[in-house]
Order: sequence, then C-alpha cells, then structure tokens
Amino acid sequence: MCGIIGYVGSRPALPILIEGLRRLEYRGYDSAGVALIDHGQLKVTKSAGRLSVLEQMLDFEADPTTGIGHTRWATHGAPTDVNAHPQQDASGNIAVIHNGIIENDRALRTYLERQGVVFRSETDTEVLAQLIGRFYEGNLEQAVRQALHDVSGAYAIAVVCSQEPNVIVAARKGSPLLIGIGKGENLLASDAAAILAHTTQVVYLGDGEMAHITPQHVRMTTLDAIPVTKNVEEIEWSLSEIELAGYEHFMLKEIHEQPASLETCLRGRIDLREGAVHLGGLRDCTRELTRAKRIILTACGTAWHAALVGKYMFEELIRTPTETEYASEFRYRNPVIDDGTLVIAVSQSGETADTLAALAEAKQRGALTLGVVNVVGSSIARETDAGVYLHVGPEIGVASTKAFTGQVAVLALMACYLGRRKHLSPAACTQFLTALNQIPDQIRQILQHEEEARAVAERYCEKENWLYLGRGYNYPVALEGALKLKEISYIHAEGLPAAEMKHGPIALINEGMPVVVVATAGTQYEKIISNIQQVKARGGSVIAVATEGDREIKRLAEHVLYVPDTLEPLQPLLAVIPLQLIAYHAAVLRGCNVDKPRNLAKSVTVE
Ligand code: M6R
Repeated sequence: MCGIIGYVGSRPALPILIEGLRRLEYRGYDSAGVALIDHGQLKVTKSAGRLSVLEQMLDFEADPTTGIGHTRWATHGAPTDVNAHPQQDASGNIAVIHNGIIENDRALRTYLERQGVVFRSETDTEVLAQLIGRFYEGNLEQAVRQALHDVSGAYAIAVVCSQEPNVIVAARKGSPLLIGIGKGENLLASDAAAILAHTTQVVYLGDGEMAHITPQHVRMTTLDAIPVTKNVEEIEWSLSEIELAGYEHFMLKEIHEQPASLETCLRGRIDLREGAVHLGGLRDCTRELTRAKRIILTACGTAWHAALVGKYMFEELIRTPTETEYASEFRYRNPVIDDGTLVIAVSQSGETADTLAALAEAKQRGALTLGVVNVVGSSIARETDAGVYLHVGPEIGVASTKAFTGQVAVLALMACYLGRRKHLSPAACTQFLTALNQIPDQIRQILQHEEEARAVAERYCEKENWLYLGRGYNYPVALEGALKLKEISYIHAEGLPAAEMKHGPIALINEGMPVVVVATAGTQYEKIISNIQQVKARGGSVIAVATEGDREIKRLAEHVLYVPDTLEPLQPLLAVIPLQLIAYHAAVLRGCNVDKPRNLAKSVTVE
C-alpha cells in the first residue's frame, strides 16, 4: 500500500513530510519521494529503497513551506528511482503522487504519445501527471478536474504546481485520503498516523470528491465542481499509540496491548445485570437484523479467520444460517443475495480492496450491510448501512494481532446482541458476557508465560514445515497460527481442521516435524487427543495449546502451552495468544523484519 503526505503552511515542509513518511513506513513500500515548491521552482527528489536513502539526498536547510511526499508499493513498473513518485508532467512544473491504479492508463498513454508526449517512467501516475499538464492553463484545480474526467480506476492523489506555490489539490476515488486541519496550515494524508503529531482535527475526503488546500482554507467539491460541506472530526488515537513505547517491534507491542485493547473494545457494551449488550451502531437497524434469514461474513486474511470464529458463534447463539466467504471470491461469483441476507464486512483497516468490492456487490444486490472495522471513518465504515467499531487502537505491525482478538470480541458481542433478541435467555447471555469480560485478565496471565512460547520458537525455528491443527472453534485458531508464522518468519505452515489430516496432509508428517495442536477443553477434546496420537505415531513433535490443569496432554505432547479455561466459543481469544508469540519469536530468531515482512503491505488496497 502506498502512502501519501502533504503539507501547506508556514513551517518548513520537508521535516513534516519525512516524519509523516516514516509513520507510513509500516504499510510497506519499495521507494519514496518528495516534491517541494522552493521559491517558485518545483524540486522533486525520489529514490528506490528505504526512506533513509531518500533522506541522504535531501537538503534539510531548505525552507519551502509547501510539499508532498510518497511511499510507493510498486504496481505499474518496477521499484526504481524513475518509477518512484512524485511523477511530473512534461513541463516539470506539476508533480503528482498517487495511490491506486489508473485502469485506462494504456489507452491514455497511447493518446498522449500521439500528441508528442515522451514518457520517462512506466507508471500510470506519470500518465495522470502528463494529462494534468496538458490541461493546465493557470488553474491547477481545474486541470486536475478535467484530467480525472478522462480517468477510470482507483486513486487518491495529491498534486502541486510551481505556479501556485501555496496550493495542494487532492482527489480520491476508492483509496483513502484525509485532510488534517491546522492553524494557518493544513495537511493531507492517506492515513491518520502520518499527521497525528500535528493535528487531531480531520476531514475525510469522500469518493468522487476533490479538495483545494491552502494554508488558510480547504475547499471541497465533487469532481463536477459542486461544493461539498463536511464535518471536522476528531481522531481518537494518540501519538503514543503509534510509537514503539520501548518495545522492539510493533507486533510485540500490539500482542501485549491485547488485554487493554479488549477492555476498551468491551467498555460500555456489556450489561451483566440485564444480560444485555449495547451496540449503539446497530440500534437503528436492530429490527432488520433480527429478521435476517441468512448472514454472510466476508473478509480477507486474518479478518477472515476472525469471521470464521464469528460464523461458529452466530450459528450457535443466533441460530441463523451463516457463511464465511473470502471477499475476493464473493465479489466475482454470482452470489445468491436477497433482502433477507445480511452481509457483514470484517476488516481492520476498512480499506481492503477485495472486502470493499464484496461489500459493493452485496449492496448492489440488495443486502443489508454491516461493518466490523477498526479504523474510524474508513471506507468500509462509511459505506456500510451500520456497524460496530473494534476500538482496539491503531495496529501498525503488518501481522494482525490485536485486530484479530478485537474482531472476535465484537463478533461475540454481536452474536449475543442478536441471540438475545431471538432465543437466548438473559441468564445465558449473562454467563456468556461474564466469561467475555474475564478475557482481558486471562490474556494478561498468558502473556506472563511468554518465555515458554519463545522456548518453543527457539527449539523449532530452523524447521521449514509446520502443521497447525484445531477442531471446532479452534480450527480458525489453527489457520491464524499458521498464517502468523508464515507471513513473518517465511516458514511454510499449514493450518487444518484436525480431522482433515487423515485425508492427505498426514503424509507430510515425518520425524520431528513441529505440529501445533490447539487442544483446549471442550466438546471435541477426545477427538483432538486421538489426532495428537496419530501425529505422534508418525514421529511428529506435538506442541499443544491446552487448558490449565490438563495433565493428560502433558504425557502426550512434547510441549504444552497452557491457557485459562473459558467457554468454548471464547477459546480462540485465549488460544491464539501463544501462537502469536511463537510466530513473533520464531521470526526474530530467524532475523526477519517482523514489522515489515517481505512482499507484504499492511493494507491491501489494490487487487
Ligand atoms: O485490513 P483488513 O483487516 O481488511 O486486512 C485483511 C488482511 O489483509 C490482513 O488481515 C492480513 O491477512 C494480515 N496481514 C495478516 O496478519
């Protein structure tokens, strides 16, 4: 995912841009660049590689007060200096930074080449810059507007022009962009983290909207120049939440934040006395929700694993048929949806392109849509009919941890909220919610045993193939444990429903292969014990996650990581913690870049 930052005001822009780019680094990038307007001259500096490479090329003594900066994640063209953003028009007076993909760039490129334009880069962004340059007649906003009318695809852009030194023009369609409102200065960013050090007052640009930004004002319009009025909103996150606070990595910090983040997520939502759940975001559509005949949870990656836990909880507590579907599959098949179908999009960022497209498909077919989202004001939050925020704070590490537990907790609240309105008794709700309320403290207890998870990682981190097994509610946990390990340590790991092992994957097991079995107490305990025996019979090394007090499993498994007891539907919230820790320590021990794993970006806003 690319990152955008812009500044226009009276302070030197460069340090603000670089600090903003540093805060966007976690999203993943392969090149970076800035454009500054220096005494009427446009100065562009850019480079492939790390931000530090770019920094060495810059003159921090310079005092331009208008500029834009970008971190790029290559889509069109290799990650080279030339393809890095900003891209310029032929005159060199206009610079553009862009997130997203211009879909008709081939046709536009051919058209412009016929007009004599010579391209320097392979990027779709240069096509846009050249197009804006062709339309420019002394009014940047007008030129951008005209160019965007010829463009199809997704974009968030920021544009500057040397002839208009105190102006940034921005526009968005399908990629996030927000404007930070300051005093005598304004900022622009693709992610609130980039501007949080300067302001907490923001305006979210909507799809098909443009902004003309100067130090004193922000004027917003549609692409057709119709004025738009927007509320200024307050970002809830604090600066300390996006800093490492003494931890070596954001992933470790976020694993340890889970007791507190879940307390925030649950705060004010649980009424134990009444056996009730309060979810303000659902209040206006509760009647439609309880009438739903079918529920589809759609998501990607870790959010999909949380949604799978949600499916099990919904069917058990609400008794409404529920499916979990990868957003990337849902969007392209021909799903049967009617007005009795409720579609819930689960997403940390609220910007994942596949999930957004699945949502659009569901809406178009008449479904009622809900969002279970962390980032306030994100696209999914705005485009769903209603929803529930996670409130787990910013997640910076690429490997999702506290968002997973937040998603499962919110889905548990929703299951109880809707179940209570159907057939769950107040007593059953109270029992469920009491157990849910205890989860943060129980996670605190698990985190005290981090050393044991680290010891497992140390023992097996050289092994290149791992299996993760679970049944029932622990099957999604096995999937999540395997995903965590592979995405940050590059070890091949496969998660499976334990009973499926005998249908093929058991052939993989050989002497000493690490097999993580999530074997907490519950209805399928005896079955999972026999799966452990099958693994042992083939020489596999069993690492079990088990319920405190379980002595039997100690005799069978090489290693046991204990978690406190809770109700079966809530076990994923506890069982996942040791697996997050194993993945984290294995990656550190293998010397991997935990927070910025290779080939991955935090938010996948393109297909
Ligand atoms: O922002 P989202 O929750 O929509 O992101 C979905 C996935 O891309 C994300 O969960 C991904 O799988 C994580 N990197 C896994 O740790």
